[in-house]
Amino acid sequence: MKLNNPLIALALTAMLNAVAGAAEPVRIGLVLPMSGPFASYGKQIEHGVKLYLATQGDTFGGRKIELIIKDDSPGTAGDVSKRLAQELVIKDKVDILAGFGLTPSAFAVAPVATEAKRPMVVMNAATSSVTTKSNYIVRTSMTLPQNSAPIASWAAKNKIKKVFTLVADYGPGHDAEGQFKKTFTAAGGEIVGEVRAPVKNPDFAPFLQKIKDTKPDAVFLFLPPGGETIAFMKGFKERGLDAAGIQLIATGDLPDEDILEAIGDSALGLVTSFHYSEAHKSPENKAYTDAYYKAYPKDRPNFMSVGGYDGMRLIAEVLKKTNGNTDADKFIEAARGMKWISPRGPISIDPATRDIVQNIYIRKVEKINGRLQNVEFDHVADFKDPGKQ
Ligand code: PHB
Repeated sequence: MKLNNPLIALALTAMLNAVAGAAEPVRIGLVLPMSGPFASYGKQIEHGVKLYLATQGDTFGGRKIELIIKDDSPGTAGDVSKRLAQELVIKDKVDILAGFGLTPSAFAVAPVATEAKRPMVVMNAATSSVTTKSNYIVRTSMTLPQNSAPIASWAAKNKIKKVFTLVADYGPGHDAEGQFKKTFTAAGGEIVGEVRAPVKNPDFAPFLQKIKDTKPDAVFLFLPPGGETIAFMKGFKERGLDAAGIQLIATGDLPDEDILEAIGDSALGLVTSFHYSEAHKSPENKAYTDAYYKAYPKDRPNFMSVGGYDGMRLIAEVLKKTNGNTDADKFIEAARGMKWISPRGPISIDPATRDIVQNIYIRKVEKINGRLQNVEFDHVADFKDPGKQ
C-alpha cells in the first residue's frame, strides 16, 4: 500500500507501534546492593523475585517480565542509586523501578520515579517516610515503627522496666528508637539511655561499657543486618552484659535467618518482633521455603527474599488487572487495597498510604532439628505502620 498522506502514515505507524507495544516485555529495573557489605540484601531480593517468576510463570496481562539488575553497592550512597535509576529509565527504558535494599537508596530514587512517572516498588528499605517521597511508591517489606511497637509492648508486659536503646544512626534506626520509646514509655517503661552508632564501622566497645554501667533491664537494638550485627553480639557476650543479666530485645532484623548461623548459639532465647520467620507455620510458607531450598540450597529464605517475592507478586497482580498497562497512575490505583496470603501470613496494601499492612509476630530463637529458628508464639494482626499515624 502506498501512503501519500503523511498524517495517515504517522497515525498508522503509531497504531502499529501500539499493537507491537502490547507484546513488548515489561522491563523491571532492580536497584540493589549486589556486592559490598550489604550484598546479601541484593542476593535475597533477587532470589525472591526470581522464585516468583519460576513458580508462577513470567507473563502477566499478556506481557513477559524482563529483569535488569543494577548494583548500587554499598546501598547507602544515594547518588549512586539515583544515577543507576536514571540510567535504567533513559537507556534501558524500564517500565518499573524496584528493589531498594537500604533507605538512602529509596530516598534518592523517589524523585526519579516522580519525574519519569514510573511505578517504584520498594522491596526492603524500611524507614516509615519512604512511601511519602513519591506518589508512585508502593512497599512490600515493612516499616521499622511497625516492627518496633510490638516488641515495646511485649517488653512492658514482661517485667522489663528500664531500657537502653542502641540504633544505627540513619532513617530506620531513628524510626526504631522513636517508636520503641513512644510505645514503651506510654506503657509505663523508662528509657535510661540512648545511643546512635554510625552505620559504617561502628566501635561498639564504649557503647557496651556505658550500657553495662547504666544497668538497664534490657537493651533494645536496631542495626541493618550484616557484619556489624555479628560484631555487636560478640561484644555483648565478651563484655559480660549477658552475664550481668541484661536482656537483649530487638526487631527481627537482628536474628535474620541470613546471619543467624553466624551469630550462633548466643542467639538462643532472643525475643524479637517481626513480619517474617522461616519457621512461620502455614501452607504458603511451606511451599515458599520448599521452593526456595530447591532453587537455592546454599542459602536460607529470609524477610528480604519474601519482600522481593511479594513485590514481584504485586507487579504481576497489577499487570493482570491493567491488562499489561504500566502507566504509573494506573499501576498505583490498581495496587491500592490489594491483598493476598504471603509466605509471612495475610498482607494488604493500605489504600491511603500505599504501605504494607501485615501481622507482626513475637518470636523466640530456638533450635529446631539442629537449626536456629525464630519460633513465633504471639502476634498482632493486620498492623498498620504506626509511623504514619
Ligand atoms: C533500611 O536501610 O531501610 C533497612 C536496612 C536493613 C533492614 C531494615 C531497614 O533490616
